[in-house]
Amino acid sequence: MNKLLTTTILAVILLFNQSNVNAQTITVIPQPTVLKPGTGKFLLSRNTLIINGEKPFFKAAAAELGMMTTKCTATIKNEGKIIFKAGTTALPPGGYELVVSTQSVTITTNTAEGAFSAVSTLKQLIGAPLFKPTSSLTLEIPVVEITDAPRFEWRGIHLDVSRHFFDIAYLKKMIDRMALYKFNKFHLHLTDDQGWRIEIKKYPMLTAKGAWRTLNKQDSVCLEKAKENPDFALPEKHFKVIDGVRKYGGFYTQEEMKDLIRYAQDRSVEIIPEIDMPGHMMAATALMPWLTSNNKGGQAKDFSEPLCPCKETTYEFAENVFTEIAALFPSQYIHLGADEVEKSSWKNVPECDALMKKEGLKDINELQSYFVHRMERFFNSKNKKLIGWDEILDGGVSKTATLMYWRTWIPGAPKKAAEKGNEIIMTPGEYCYFDAQQDNNSLQKVYSFDPFNFHLDEADRKYVKGVQASTWTEYIPSEDRLEYMIFPRIMAMSEIAWRGKGSDWNGFEKKVIQQLPMLDAMKINYRFLDLTGFSLNSVFVDSASLQIINPVEAFKIRYTTDNSLPTNTSALFSGKLKITAPVQIKLAAFNDADKRGEVYTVNYKKLNYLEPATTDALQKGLNFYYYPHSYRSVKEISEKDLLTKQVTQAIEIPVTQTADQFATRHKGYFYAAETGVYTFFLRSDDGSVLNMDGAVLVDNGGLHTSIEKSAQTALKKGYHPFELLFLEGGGGYTLKLEVVDPSGKRRAVNAEDFYK
Ligand code: ACM
Repeated sequence: MNKLLTTTILAVILLFNQSNVNAQTITVIPQPTVLKPGTGKFLLSRNTLIINGEKPFFKAAAAELGMMTTKCTATIKNEGKIIFKAGTTALPPGGYELVVSTQSVTITTNTAEGAFSAVSTLKQLIGAPLFKPTSSLTLEIPVVEITDAPRFEWRGIHLDVSRHFFDIAYLKKMIDRMALYKFNKFHLHLTDDQGWRIEIKKYPMLTAKGAWRTLNKQDSVCLEKAKENPDFALPEKHFKVIDGVRKYGGFYTQEEMKDLIRYAQDRSVEIIPEIDMPGHMMAATALMPWLTSNNKGGQAKDFSEPLCPCKETTYEFAENVFTEIAALFPSQYIHLGADEVEKSSWKNVPECDALMKKEGLKDINELQSYFVHRMERFFNSKNKKLIGWDEILDGGVSKTATLMYWRTWIPGAPKKAAEKGNEIIMTPGEYCYFDAQQDNNSLQKVYSFDPFNFHLDEADRKYVKGVQASTWTEYIPSEDRLEYMIFPRIMAMSEIAWRGKGSDWNGFEKKVIQQLPMLDAMKINYRFLDLTGFSLNSVFVDSASLQIINPVEAFKIRYTTDNSLPTNTSALFSGKLKITAPVQIKLAAFNDADKRGEVYTVNYKKLNYLEPATTDALQKGLNFYYYPHSYRSVKEISEKDLLTKQVTQAIEIPVTQTADQFATRHKGYFYAAETGVYTFFLRSDDGSVLNMDGAVLVDNGGLHTSIEKSAQTALKKGYHPFELLFLEGGGGYTLKLEVVDPSGKRRAVNAEDFYK
């Protein structure tokens, strides 16, 4: 080969490697619209010049950059510049351009929000060193060109501060993290049955008494869990002795809230207050029981006694509260809540009968909408717009209210709202409720959220203002637990909020892994990515080999076999572990800082290959039975409720219009094509149970969201009795069965597997 050719090839390889290196190291979440990696670095130093072009809307972003330079201890010769420029190109709202060269960083935008988003991108480009408690000589920003703009104007995070209180210092941390991932609305659920959290000067008792409680049932559950997991402990800092009694809670004074609002504004985050009415009001009605229809307050059938919409005293109270809320919060929107109202409490109430007659209201749903409409008129008189949970559709909604969609089990609600011309914020529980428990699918579940996939056609889509992740805190008492529930799911939600839809799951998962050191530097108690590839209920015949898929190279896996929890000195798992006797293995991943992730308990049982059934004249398919009845457990399924029996080819539910609650049974034989160990993975929402060879193999029973359980069995080649029971308790269902057969490949069970 001649020299010139060799040099050219080398240069090409070098170039290729160079751009590859950049492509791998430039990790931004959410993914910018256009990102062109270059070569080289800009060095941020103590003397980097920040030129903010005198525009007031650059001030907050420039101040943040100034803070970043103070992390650097070195000044450098030929110091670089960071230049803010008002946009000359037509950038979409909230958009920005960011050009990093070795000499300068240029941020072009027309808005404070765009400027702060550019700074958030820069922070991620620097990564972990920026967030470490120790200073650096300089900080490196890779050369890159980015053009970027959000898909949705509403990119929300909701936090319930009533069920458990989170203080201002922590909310500021949350705002920093929201801004880092380009969220711009912080919806605070400030009141609920369990505590009133915002000072109302007209009613000082609401916080003097209503913000404090003796421990309730949910607190007891947390305390019980705290015995195994300290993240469930109730923080000591939120206890206080009041009149000689130890109480738990807290609240924000209006001055503290103003400080928080300013802090958020500087980061282009808007705080949206929610005072939930007329239901979820027990913190207030315990003090003012005359606001309810029974004058006693307390618990009603499904929810607490709501405010009575038929008494003028209710409106006097509500308007006094919202007058202060409207003055305190600069946001255009106020959230009225209006979810989960025990409307039955308004039946046979003389004031309500009279109001219904006077206003021509036909039923209690219309009483609820009377309340919401009247409050909306009041909000409008204060120059504010009303948001309500999707229950505001019941009984008729005004065109100008904004609907916050949460009830995934009412899939038609967003369409109904769009057709009426109402704006919608999408936070459907199945994808967006971060209080839902997590497993190996929950991050991908959030990433798969398509805000338009709720029967919204092109014409309806313009009504979708945006998306929101919502976290209810009944069982989230501490900051660590909250972070565990939010991270890394918030990163997936940020992709949906910014881009509209996730389109590259594998790429996204890699980005999450690349950002873990940054989360570690921020000391965020994120949930580790799951270890997979094994079953907690494993078997061996002669011997087996435990294999684990570890998604993060930097995680070390450690294990014990003596029933103790693994620690950072436990045995290191080195790829495979040979099992020759029954054993219980507890294993967990550890990160660089020796923090432990989930503990998995794997049980190995010795089994002989199960003999196949002696059957003849089998046909393809499974017998399928459908029971349109409400059960709490598959054990309750009764043949007297059977409506249809038919044949399916695999695990399908061939009923076009299923009842809200129902159960199903698939029965036949699973054909083991070769003798060996089979692992069955059963995912369901709600419960399911897999029976094989006459015994329970996978018990995923109960009423729950989408959860996967698995178990292994050892099968001799042939036909094995198979029965899958499933129940749907309402709210949409999932039923999925996968198998790893002796070839080692994980796949869905299919028509090839089943006989009857
Ligand atoms: C809600 O989850 N009750 C809005």
